[in-house]
Amino acid sequence: MAQTYQHYIDGEWVTGHGTETFESENPATGESLGEFQQGTPADVNDAVGVADEAYEEWRKRSRIDRAEYLWDVYHELRDRTEELGEIVTKECGKEISEGRADVVEAAHMVEWAAGDARHPSGETVPSEIAAKDAYMRRKPRGVTGCITPWNFPIAIPYWHMAVALVEGNTVVWKPAEQTPWCAQIVAEMFDDAGVPPGVFNMVQGFGDTGAAIVDDDRVPTVLFTGSAEVGHRIADAVGAESGKRAACEMGGKNAVVITEEADLDIAVHSAVMSSFKTTGQRCVSSERLIVHTDVYDEFKERFVDAASKVAVGDPLQEDTFMGPLIEAEHKAKVTEYRDLAREEGVDVLVDRTELDADEIPDGHEDGHWVGPFVYEADPDADLRCTQEEVFGPHVALLEYDGDIERAVEIQNDTDYGLAGAIVSEDYRQINYYRDHAELGLAYGNLPCIGAEVQLPFGGVKKSGNGYPSAREIIEAVTDRTAWTLNNSKEIQMAQGLSADIITDG
Ligand code: NAI
Ligand code: MG
Repeated sequence: MAQTYQHYIDGEWVTGHGTETFESENPATGESLGEFQQGTPADVNDAVGVADEAYEEWRKRSRIDRAEYLWDVYHELRDRTEELGEIVTKECGKEISEGRADVVEAAHMVEWAAGDARHPSGETVPSEIAAKDAYMRRKPRGVTGCITPWNFPIAIPYWHMAVALVEGNTVVWKPAEQTPWCAQIVAEMFDDAGVPPGVFNMVQGFGDTGAAIVDDDRVPTVLFTGSAEVGHRIADAVGAESGKRAACEMGGKNAVVITEEADLDIAVHSAVMSSFKTTGQRCVSSERLIVHTDVYDEFKERFVDAASKVAVGDPLQEDTFMGPLIEAEHKAKVTEYRDLAREEGVDVLVDRTELDADEIPDGHEDGHWVGPFVYEADPDADLRCTQEEVFGPHVALLEYDGDIERAVEIQNDTDYGLAGAIVSEDYRQINYYRDHAELGLAYGNLPCIGAEVQLPFGGVKKSGNGYPSAREIIEAVTDRTAWTLNNSKEIQMAQGLSADIITDG
């Protein structure tokens, strides 16, 4: 830990212009994991400059040629899954199977992007005119700014960068300030793969560093995953500049609907996973359980029992279900929402916000520990605690009476629209939900967490701005050209439009 880790700009490790450093902290122990150079707008300026310069050469190469670098990254992710999974767990606190899954998901994204390089790109399209060939072709856009959160510190960066690079863009990345060690490793992988200088750049730092990327005129594309507050600010700023584009993936106030036709084993299992995996710190985590009155009492008893018992502990241990929260400020936020819910008059069923001393693993007293908080609320009451994203194990049971239309009405009674699930054995209920729930990601008889890279990943309403991640990020990082070539010596137009040049006399 003697060294201060640096930025990666133009193929070099550099200290940059800043004099400040910051530390990465293990959220389960409070111990320092390393010291990192803190970026400044001047560092971003350097990184964008070299990325802009490298773009002309990078875009000239074939997609297949560019993808070769990513295959090296892919193999490294595969070979080092165990080791990197442990680092993810140490730095962001999610339990070890989730730490490893983060690395595996990164490998899948890189595999998808690199494999896609040998697949057809664009489309051949018919023309009305037999002598015309028409195509939809993709072009890269230039420097892509990537701003990522801490909760998937290996996977999300690759969700942004793998496809962007294969498509011929260059990258300036600002990782989350909570997980700079994971970011360091991601940058080392691009360096190991021999990615040409300037094509991939990383500037460590905080929100001001991210903002400098967004503000730079030489960055036509910004990919952001994180809070709705920051994401909408970025989308608004970028939307006002012609030619610029931001793809923003934000949070949710996600729900699981449990109807009177639910299999309650599936319902309880799905609800526990949706609410408490990653200690509720997934953008798709569920903070609302919408339960039909006919099954409410039984569901409540079983869910409360599970919430009272889920194992909170050392995330490196295989028998831990929930690790700590990411940082002290976040523990404070989750606690404030517990207090707010109580002030709003909800019926509290489980409150493990402050764990007993014997629930905290030995040697982990400085971790940011929290257990489940579960309460009942009226679905028609206008409460902040059931409307605002807490990003923790904070769950409302909302009892409803009536048909599936009523359940979906409650599901949709939120500004957000990211993820949701329905548990039911009745296909008509499931299909109604599928067609009417306002969501980007929806699941039947499953938890509302989990994503695979070959599907689009993104929300509607306040949760997204129309450019989903994973596979679909290609729409954000490329422009489409409608390209028509005439094979005849004559000019002929579609729609019967005359091509005659008519002159007087
Ligand atoms: P955040 O949105 O502040 O940070 C995400 C990334 O954006 C980080 O790299 C951060 O440095 C950067 N950033 C912050 N301010 C910026 C600005 N003005 N311009 C450009 N980049 C900026 O999220 P944070 O602080 O980690 O968490 C706050 C809340 O956001 C959480 O409590 C949760 O509700 C939500 N969140 C949602 C996530 C998701 O998966 N959708 C992930 C992380 C947080
Ligand atoms: Mg923030």
